[in-house]
Amino acid sequence: MASSITVRTPASIANLGPGFDVFGLAVNAFYDEVTLRKTKSGITIISNGSVPSNPHSNTAGIVVGNMKRRFKINGGIEIAIRKMIPPGFGMGSSAASAAAAAVAFDRLFRLGLDSTALVEFAGVGEKASAGTVHYDNVAAAVCGGFTIVRTDPLDVIMLDPPADLRICIAVPKLDVPKKKTRKSRKLIPKQVRFSDHIANLSNASAMVAGFAQKDSDLIGSSIHDIIVEPARMRMIPGFSKVKDYALKAGATGVTISGAGPSVVAFSKKSADLEKISTAMAKGFATAGTKCMTIVCKPTKGADIRNKAKAIL
Ligand code: HSE
Repeated sequence: MASSITVRTPASIANLGPGFDVFGLAVNAFYDEVTLRKTKSGITIISNGSVPSNPHSNTAGIVVGNMKRRFKINGGIEIAIRKMIPPGFGMGSSAASAAAAAVAFDRLFRLGLDSTALVEFAGVGEKASAGTVHYDNVAAAVCGGFTIVRTDPLDVIMLDPPADLRICIAVPKLDVPKKKTRKSRKLIPKQVRFSDHIANLSNASAMVAGFAQKDSDLIGSSIHDIIVEPARMRMIPGFSKVKDYALKAGATGVTISGAGPSVVAFSKKSADLEKISTAMAKGFATAGTKCMTIVCKPTKGADIRNKAKAIL
């Protein structure tokens, strides 16, 4: 049995507009890498970034601790985290480390868990950062592609995205509050009008059809959320202009990435992606906000690496 395993997991976009806590999309913008190594005792964490070194407050540490207890694994584990997905962007940074830890633990101890079980274990790590367990980012990080999460019982469905789908991401340089996801979840209305629910449900359904039919235009035009986006956009100065300018530049749909503050514009390979990115930056500039732009595409999920790169 190997004494160490390294797993790489991608960044992800959660919600995709109308699929709050349900939809996720793995993207090739950034990756985290987690190496688990058997040791004599305890759980220790080393990393190249500013992630908590206490295993009880680190998403990967929480996942490993929970799996260790559940499967009655004796001995210790060292968790080496090569953090490359910047936290606070709204791109599933904590979820990626949690997902990589769950997949690596499964491989290291040859548990043979299926992807739904891996997503369930990884989701426990999300509670540390968001305050509640939700599985959209971890599902995308584990499975890759476009993921749909059902709960009670947990069930994860993955669809392969169309090859021509492209996403322009604008990451505003904002002071993101601590526990950002927890705070932004508090903004969401507790009750919704039935007509708003119908509108979001129709767009969510159309988006699933878009992925099933590999129709990037349908995916983009389904990014229409009248429940969560209006409640959260006030956290993102310039959001309306970013959206408006990106749509005018050729994006087919624009929304907040997960809990924000990044804004994502969906489009196709054939579009002028640089024009869309520039338009988004101009939108943020109207609010005096600088931003970084990234063009990315969907990618696969957790990847077992033979060797860890020199990380620390
Ligand atoms: N669905 C989650 C949210 C994703 O929007 O709060 C962020 O973790």
